[in-house]
Amino acid sequence: MAFARVGILGLGYVGLPLAVALAAHRPVVGFDIDARRIAELERGHDRTREVSDAALARVATHLTVSTDPNSLRGCDVFIATVPTPIDADRKPDLSALEAASRTIGRVLAPGAVVVFESTVYPGVTEGPCAMWIAEESGLQAGRDYHLGYSPERVNPGDGNHGLTAITKVVAAQTEDVAARLAALYGEINGGNIHTAPSIRIAEAAKAIENAQRDINIAFINEVAMVLHAADIPVHDVLAAARTKWNFLPFVPGLVGGHCIGVDPYYLATWAQSLGHEPVTILAGRQTNEAMAGFFADQIAVQLAPGASVLVLGASFKENIGDLRNSKALDVTAALAAKGFTVDCFDPLADAEALRRLLGRAPLAALPPDRPYDALVLAVAHQAFSTLDAAALAPCVAPGGLIADIKGLWRGRVLPQGRRYWTL
Ligand SMILES: NC(=O)c1ccc[n+]([C@@H]2O[C@H](COP(=O)([O-])OP(=O)(O)OC[C@H]3O[C@@H](n4cnc5c(N)ncnc54)[C@H](O)[C@@H]3O)[C@@H](O)[C@H]2O)c1
Repeated sequence: MAFARVGILGLGYVGLPLAVALAAHRPVVGFDIDARRIAELERGHDRTREVSDAALARVATHLTVSTDPNSLRGCDVFIATVPTPIDADRKPDLSALEAASRTIGRVLAPGAVVVFESTVYPGVTEGPCAMWIAEESGLQAGRDYHLGYSPERVNPGDGNHGLTAITKVVAAQTEDVAARLAALYGEINGGNIHTAPSIRIAEAAKAIENAQRDINIAFINEVAMVLHAADIPVHDVLAAARTKWNFLPFVPGLVGGHCIGVDPYYLATWAQSLGHEPVTILAGRQTNEAMAGFFADQIAVQLAPGASVLVLGASFKENIGDLRNSKALDVTAALAAKGFTVDCFDPLADAEALRRLLGRAPLAALPPDRPYDALVLAVAHQAFSTLDAAALAPCVAPGGLIADIKGLWRGRVLPQGRRYWTL
């Protein structure tokens, strides 16, 4: 039986595109606790730029957004896409998941299906989430209603791997519910569904996907540090190594954000709860966590005390404005802590959010009013890849340093009389 009305909890990077895609087929209610977010969506605009104003307008009659949990009443499937961050001790912070589960519990009717998309470790959906729902509703999962899990894999800023283009993994407590979920999600991606045998398997699959990526990047980062100490350009080494058929094409860099830099801690905490010390997973994290300091140190030794620095890019990765857990901002902070005067420019980040994080106003545009002693390329936004010598010259004074963390301008003709540094 097809679902009639979908309720989505959390309208962020994951939830909004999903709500919009599903609303092309059936009524969708989007609930978020952030009144500013709901207000902007009601005005027909998505600040994260994942959904265009035109796409929002197209589904306006089918998509209702609200901060009122009662708007979710009457939905026969609920999908939670709320954040699952880590706390100050790098342990899973399930508080948003608890709040969303309790919200669902208060509006849940028997026979409904509750799906979690938030990244978790195995057992969270059928353990704590089911418990929180039961405490509010008195309903038992698997008897009065059913649980499902469908990990989210979208890659914001990556036009090739959006919601409709990638395989969606679904799992549920029964085969029948899994088939209904496969049909629901299949409507938005042409039936490109992998049904996992159990919720715990789907939860585990998501947890290891990002941890695998983290560890691979950590290896390349470690290699980069070693090669740099030996004065061997890592990018040239990688270009040569990549000619082997099974060499994995990872590149060194900053690993931040809310997924790759966070999810391995979920896997690690879960491993520890089982009595296994996750040495490899945590070693990868340690290496990647150290990279911002490594880059700041490498740049600092090339600068005079008190030098002025302009950092290009503040988001956690290229071509998006998302500032969560951004290691580019860690580089900025580390340079400021060393006594340099550091400004920042990011054409995609929300200026107000960036100002709050920096503690000073970011640059509004390039070129700056005056050239800096150093220009640091921290995020490989497309907008930066096209900067040529003429565009860079007003940014960095003659004799100044161009530090290219990402290796974006390697082999490029740069303004004369400036020093160039990359790995
Ligand atoms: N962004 C990605 O690329 C991505 C990719 C794969 C998986 N994920 C996972 O998906 C989940 C959501 O990530 P996101 O990037 O969309 O987060 P986000 O911060 O962009 O959005 C989450 C939204 O949930 C809202 N929210 C918080 N608590 C709530 C509650 N109790 N009830 C209703 N709404 C609530 C927030 O206000 C916010 O608008 C996380 O578990 C994340 O790890 C994200």
